[in-house]
Amino acid sequence: MPFRRLPPVLRALLAQGLGFLAILVLARLGLRFPPLVWVLLQATLAVWLSRGLHLEPRWLLLQAVLPFLGWLLWGAAVPAWLYLSGFLALALVFGGGLVTRVPLYLASRDACDQLGALLPEGPLRFVDLGCGLGGPVAHLARTRPDGQFLGVEASLVSWLVAWLRCLPLPNAHIHLGSLWRVDLADMDVAYAFLSPVPMPALWAKALREMKPGSQLISHSFEIPGQAPDRVVPVRGRPGARLLVWNLR
Ligand SMILES: C[S@@+](CC[C@H](N)C(=O)[O-])C[C@H]1O[C@@H](n2cnc3c(N)ncnc32)[C@H](O)[C@@H]1O
Repeated sequence: MPFRRLPPVLRALLAQGLGFLAILVLARLGLRFPPLVWVLLQATLAVWLSRGLHLEPRWLLLQAVLPFLGWLLWGAAVPAWLYLSGFLALALVFGGGLVTRVPLYLASRDACDQLGALLPEGPLRFVDLGCGLGGPVAHLARTRPDGQFLGVEASLVSWLVAWLRCLPLPNAHIHLGSLWRVDLADMDVAYAFLSPVPMPALWAKALREMKPGSQLISHSFEIPGQAPDRVVPVRGRPGARLLVWNLR
């Protein structure tokens, strides 16, 4: 089904939109209900359509709650510019995730420490593919002055924060762009904290470009069908760990 390929957020919007359209048709046909019943109807239709569009249970919950939230805010005295600024700020930071299906969430201090402990001895080149706000790159560049640390980030706001953060560090560099355009041939370690979606393509890229003896490290996300050479648990989030593959 073509809709299944759409990002979940677009499927959710589609379900709410279609539900609202059905409500408009019913109102045009002359049906009259108290506002609460209309909102309940919108929520029911949105959840039903969302199920048809194969959204996960957590999305169904959100779809049920959204019409009620909208109703509550309808009469509230919130200036329009506040909605617009909130929307723009969220779109700038998280908007890229709609397309890449990789949201922004950050590696913990423990993950950065464990990552540091996994790095090989001596001078090395490291890349964080999708570096977010630059936490791991800045931390590693500080603790390993003998290494060169690169971060690549597609979201403008995150890139700016990471770039500013790493500006004082001579061995850290942050590039704005897509991780798929980074050549991994020179890298001793490529690290990524992404989502399950890009992992098969990331593995194919690592196999194509990385040299024997280098390492691919994924924060928490597996590569289907590829058992890691090492798994290091990370404190904080449930199930958080670093998975290490040695390239041969
Ligand atoms: C889960 S965050 C991880 C941040 C950081 N690496 C860490 O470990 O704390 C994933 C980041 O990857 C970025 N990202 C997703 N797809 C990307 C792509 N194709 N190219 C560059 N960055 C991407 C997102 O914008 C997000 O900031």
